Amino acid sequence: MLEGKKILLGISGGIAAYKSMFLIRLFKKAGAEVRVVATESAMWFVTRVTIESLSQNKVYDKVFGEENDYTTEHISLTDWGDIFVVAPATANIIGKYANGIADDALSTSLIAFDKKVFMAPAMNCKMYENFAFQRNLAYLKEQQVEIIEPASGYLACGYEGKGRMEEPEEIFEVIKSYFSQNSDFKGKKILITAGPTYENIDPVRFIGNYSSGKMGFALAEELARRGAEVKLVAGPVNLVVENTSIERADVTNAEEMYNFCMKLFPDMDAAVLTAAVSDFKPRTQHPVKMKSSDKSLHIELIPNPDILASLGKMKIPLQILAGFALETDNERENARKKLDKKNLDFIVLNSLKDKGAGFGTDTNKITILDNKNQVSGFELKSKKQVAGDIADKLKTFFEK
Ligand code: CTP
Repeated sequence: MLEGKKILLGISGGIAAYKSMFLIRLFKKAGAEVRVVATESAMWFVTRVTIESLSQNKVYDKVFGEENDYTTEHISLTDWGDIFVVAPATANIIGKYANGIADDALSTSLIAFDKKVFMAPAMNCKMYENFAFQRNLAYLKEQQVEIIEPASGYLACGYEGKGRMEEPEEIFEVIKSYFSQNSDFKGKKILITAGPTYENIDPVRFIGNYSSGKMGFALAEELARRGAEVKLVAGPVNLVVENTSIERADVTNAEEMYNFCMKLFPDMDAAVLTAAVSDFKPRTQHPVKMKSSDKSLHIELIPNPDILASLGKMKIPLQILAGFALETDNERENARKKLDKKNLDFIVLNSLKDKGAGFGTDTNKITILDNKNQVSGFELKSKKQVAGDIADKLKTFFEK
């Protein structure tokens, strides 16, 4: 899978350093060569013997030392590596890298490295939220450093929040897809919709839903990473786009989303509509805030345009169109009906009966049904991995 790939693994001083030992194993098992560059603090958390036994290479942790053989190791190492993965990346190493500081083996190697860098931050949630750290992180993203966002959860310091290093398996997935598939969708233009829509009742109230947009954003990132030109039309969500090649349009309601999609679709090779579009909207929007003294409230609802069905009518044979179906009962039957009715090539089914699937979660469990009557079921996975499965399915249509 990663045969012949040369990976520089930077380890900085955080408790998550022990998890990087698993990452070395995953890289090695996949056939990559691994060389570790570590900070002095990292060596308090993991031992030299562990790193060297797993990587089968010497660890580089001192710019000067008794065993210095007078080669400029930070230069030869960085010439050698195809990519640099820093996991865990502490606030300190991120701060140094963002500000061009080179005062130890890892920071010196990073500054000498001119290829793709990945960083998996790990720290206490208060440190993660700190303004200076956030500024450094934003700057690295601007510089195309790929940040593998930390997860939320229980932290070693006893806090709960965002800051726990992403699991080694997830980091491995990101690296694997970087190497193996980054030209899969080269030259393909793909439209993605994501998130909910808000239909205004008055200036302060709306009809909406719990969609977080995470699935659509993960798919947009995955397709962009694999070479597609992605247009992302997003409803009101609290998410940022990592890949700067993604063109994002933010909309609020279904009509705005519809207008964008109708305009963009004729120029697209494919569209995957993941948005949870409100099926109805109030017939009239009150121009001023409705008063609670209006004792009897009646809101008349009228249907919104069905974006997916409209694209299905518009679609020409070379275009691929896919949608999502969130069902609670008779799942496959309902999904198949939607696939036929909306003229889709495939549909991604979520069942609310499955724990960990659906709105707001970081995981999803999907079944894909296609227009050739094929059905593929998948395990519960992270939305990032699910995005990989959906992209793989889309790819099969382009190969025909
Ligand atoms: N969709 C859309 N525009 C709408 C409603 C839905 O583009 N106005 C898309 C969604 O993005 C999703 C798919 O259609 O890809 C399925 O949405 P869903 O609301 O489940 O379909 P409906 O046909 O509205 O069926 P239901 O009766 O289950 O609500």
